[in-house]
Amino acid sequence: MRKRLSILLLIIGLAAVTSYSKGIAATDNIKLSTIQTNKLNIKQSAEAEKEELINEGDSYSNSKNTSKPGILLVNRNNRLEEDYVPQSLRVPNVRFISYADSRVKKIDTSAASALETLFDAAREDGVTLLAVSGYRDYFYQEKLYNNKVSAVGQKEADKYVAQPGASEHQTGLAMDVLSDEYSSLDEGFEQTQAYRWIKNNCHKYGFIIRYPKGKENITGYNYECWHLRYVGISEATEISQKNITLEEYLNKVE
Ligand code: DAL
Ligand code: ZN
Repeated sequence: MRKRLSILLLIIGLAAVTSYSKGIAATDNIKLSTIQTNKLNIKQSAEAEKEELINEGDSYSNSKNTSKPGILLVNRNNRLEEDYVPQSLRVPNVRFISYADSRVKKIDTSAASALETLFDAAREDGVTLLAVSGYRDYFYQEKLYNNKVSAVGQKEADKYVAQPGASEHQTGLAMDVLSDEYSSLDEGFEQTQAYRWIKNNCHKYGFIIRYPKGKENITGYNYECWHLRYVGISEATEISQKNITLEEYLNKVE
């Protein structure tokens, strides 16, 4: 009887030990899988964060303030920081007007290639375009603006020259363009063959006339028949066909 009891106690003891160690193992497994999951989560969130940063970088240079990715809207209500500089700039291989300031000859590299193609196409049609002013940094624009204010007062200056941070020229995606037949940045350029060529063709190379006549209340600036903005071919074609401004295209009329 005592022997049976001893065997029974031994079995119960063994069972208890086995189930205890199984418990530890199970707990360890949970712990392990929790650690693994946490590690995975950390990795995933680190990757997500990295991706977010990359996207943020992208969107800052391209589309932070617009409803359409890839299009940067800069105007009075959508300004750039003073340290905003486009990622990649170069002087396009095109002819410049004699008085062009060498400090503002560069534009964004993708816009530069498009501008070269546009100038070549115009040349083939017998039109000699001349570039005037491309990328202007915040401080260059500030000087330009202050000079205009000194000359004509702020109210008048605000119609023609953007305040620092509010100029498309700081994006590197704009170029003022004239021709060998007309060398002043004023409305007289509209009467030239070069302007007519630009109006009919610039969208094919991804450019729009950014400040059209009759849309001053939307763009915030007087008509500028010389100011071209690079947006990409399909975008420029749609904008030109619909006869709308960039603000209207992006549903950002304020
Ligand atoms: N003339 C345009 C508005 C500029 O200053 O950016
Ligand atoms: Zn301009």
